[in-house]
Amino acid sequence: MGDKREISRRTFLNYALMGTGGFLAAGMITPMIRFAVDPLLQGHAGGDKVAVGSPDEFSAVPKRVEFKVHTKDGWYESESTLTAWVTKNEKGEILALSPICKHLGCTVSWGTGPGQPNEYFCPCHMGRYTINGEHILGTPPTASLDEYETEVKDGKLYLGKVKANPRPGVTG
Ligand code: FES
Repeated sequence: MGDKREISRRTFLNYALMGTGGFLAAGMITPMIRFAVDPLLQGHAGGDKVAVGSPDEFSAVPKRVEFKVHTKDGWYESESTLTAWVTKNEKGEILALSPICKHLGCTVSWGTGPGQPNEYFCPCHMGRYTINGEHILGTPPTASLDEYETEVKDGKLYLGKVKANPRPGVTG
């Protein structure tokens, strides 16, 4: 007499159905989990710079350029248009300034201030900045205009992230 355990047809069908159901559930859930955590696993592209033209296009007179940046934050992707005021000094050094006023965030322009053709001007509260973005003491802004990271490569000027402008304020 052996120690055989017989399994009923009903039990066998239950096991078979459970196995098939589990297999199908795993097939559906795995892609969902992967979709949910994928952005976290991919990391950031980071450090992308955008070409805005040839360095030869720029001079000591500020030139306004617009460029598009693609940003990805987790699951959220967007495209936005940024602006920079770009100058190239006599040494060939390039400076790309953000147009966002450091007082309350209005947009500055070059040479539009009344009687100040060689300054950046913010029309919201008469903020003024020098050609290097230094804030002019006695006007509302308390910091110099931020600047973009710059890089010249293969005959093109690339702009990157915005960083603080270390230049202090100056008397106007
Ligand atoms: S926001 Fe520019 S001066 Fe106030």
